Amino acid sequence: MGKRYRIAVLGAGDMGRCHVQGWQLAGHEVVSITDTDKNRAFDLAKKAGVEQVYMDFTESVTRSDIDVVSIALPLVYHGPATILAAQHGKHVFCEKPLASSWEEVERMQKAVKEAGVKFGLGFQRNFAHGVELVQKWAEEGVFGSPMVFSSDLLQEVRPKIAMHDKDGNQGPVVDTCCHFFLMWQTIFRSKPKKVYARGGILGKGRPEIAHFKELAVDTAIITIEYESGDIGTMTISWGLAKDTQLQANPDRIFGPKGGAVGYFNTWGRDSGTEVKLYIGDQLEVVPLEKRELHKVEFEAFIEALQTNAPEPYGFELGMEMLKLSYAVLESIETGQVVTV
Ligand SMILES: NC(=O)c1ccc[n+]([C@@H]2O[C@H](COP(=O)([O-])OP(=O)(O)OC[C@H]3O[C@@H](n4cnc5c(N)ncnc54)[C@H](O)[C@@H]3O)[C@@H](O)[C@H]2O)c1
Repeated sequence: MGKRYRIAVLGAGDMGRCHVQGWQLAGHEVVSITDTDKNRAFDLAKKAGVEQVYMDFTESVTRSDIDVVSIALPLVYHGPATILAAQHGKHVFCEKPLASSWEEVERMQKAVKEAGVKFGLGFQRNFAHGVELVQKWAEEGVFGSPMVFSSDLLQEVRPKIAMHDKDGNQGPVVDTCCHFFLMWQTIFRSKPKKVYARGGILGKGRPEIAHFKELAVDTAIITIEYESGDIGTMTISWGLAKDTQLQANPDRIFGPKGGAVGYFNTWGRDSGTEVKLYIGDQLEVVPLEKRELHKVEFEAFIEALQTNAPEPYGFELGMEMLKLSYAVLESIETGQVVTV
């Protein structure tokens, strides 16, 4: 192993925990954890053996002995934390989605460019074995052409209620669909052309999110046509009843020759550990390899940093995903097909 990088992780929530573990598994040193919730930060630091805790990211980011700032904060802080880190000469690894607005993207890009640092975006799910396998089958023509992809995600109103704030995390179309959009375009090896979507707010009237000035769309049915002629469809909702037992369907892709079914970009007890491959009238069950996805994405980022190669996912991809998510929201609002 080469240089052991020194990392400041911002955020000690769900993704902060994944970042700390991923960096440590990849053999780097997490020097500090920052969270405005002091108990959370201390708990995680204790579990992970990290010595320094901060509550204000200005303190952790501006330390001279940090190489990489790893951002696992709510969307509204992606911009400010990236800009501050770049201005202090740190490389930045930031969770998806990229930013809250196009103006913010511009400011982030400018800061990163001026500082000459690397900027990587967290799309760990696209490193899953299932995505790699299905992409290979699609490329080999196993399914034939065109292909149709359907993905599904169903959840109750999020306990993380800020996710429903239109001015905050902007709801699932911006926050979460990007994982699926990236998976589809990876497997189709093509870019989106047109979008049609319908949607709304199922969680309207729920007391836990009633205080937000404006709620984000929490439910959508999305259809995207790709330049290749392939089609992706998605049903997503974060508006279901509390403790619902309704479950999302697995991903499914098919073409005139065959298809595949499974949770391609996750692995585990709930999402399964295999993919069903259908060719003609045959069915084969293909096991999926378990991968530590955050470790893998951080290794890929560090390799890009060391070889000065482009990072696997950065501004360009982040902007593509934002553009597509905003096209979906525009289609929902106008009822029109939107050209991407
Ligand atoms: N890649 C993925 O699969 C994936 C999955 C979930 C979330 N995310 C993304 O990760 C980011 C974080 O999401 P999460 O699920 O971990 O959220 P979370 O609510 O679990 O954690 C966020 C943490 O940030 C802290 N925080 C908020 N403002 C802060 C500030 N100004 N300074 C320091 N700490 C602050 C909160 O106290 C909280 O502990 C979001 O951008 C989200 O979209 C990515």
